[in-house]
Amino acid sequence: MDDSHTPHCLSRRTLLLAGARLTLLSAVPGMAAPVWAEQAAHPPLPLARLSALSTGVPVWFDYPAPGFANVLVKLGEPAAGGIGPQRDVVAFSARCSHMGGDLRGTLQPRHAVLGPCPRHLSTFDLTRHGIVVTGHATQSLPQVLLRQDGDDIVAVGMQGLVFGVVPHE
Ligand code: FES
Repeated sequence: MDDSHTPHCLSRRTLLLAGARLTLLSAVPGMAAPVWAEQAAHPPLPLARLSALSTGVPVWFDYPAPGFANVLVKLGEPAAGGIGPQRDVVAFSARCSHMGGDLRGTLQPRHAVLGPCPRHLSTFDLTRHGIVVTGHATQSLPQVLLRQDGDDIVAVGMQGLVFGVVPHE
């Protein structure tokens, strides 16, 4: 039988297996970022001094442009993409990846999460590249790429798509 015109479809079993593999991968602490997460360089912006940060106390800042809120936080535990001696300093967009809900003020440092989002309750794990813990979001929270220059913490780009921003072509 000639099936050259048959649409190529995934079987239900293949789809379930692929989903299980992704779940297992995302459950491994320290796992690298998903390969499909976009990275974009932006002009460097000094954010804070490493020695001045206190565990669990957020620093809110706009990046890569005014009106795009983010949070910088020392979690007190190693995190994917973290900088500093303990690899525990990370920064994330405060604009929910679902529909742009405002996540400012929702940091729960004790649980290393941002959320729940006031719009549809999405919550994001800050130790694992901002993956979704619960809620409607299907994409991780964009992570701010950080660089350490001595005692200075500098934002140098974003990983992931910020809601409302059209990516460069
Ligand atoms: S906008 Fe945040 S969960 Fe929908």
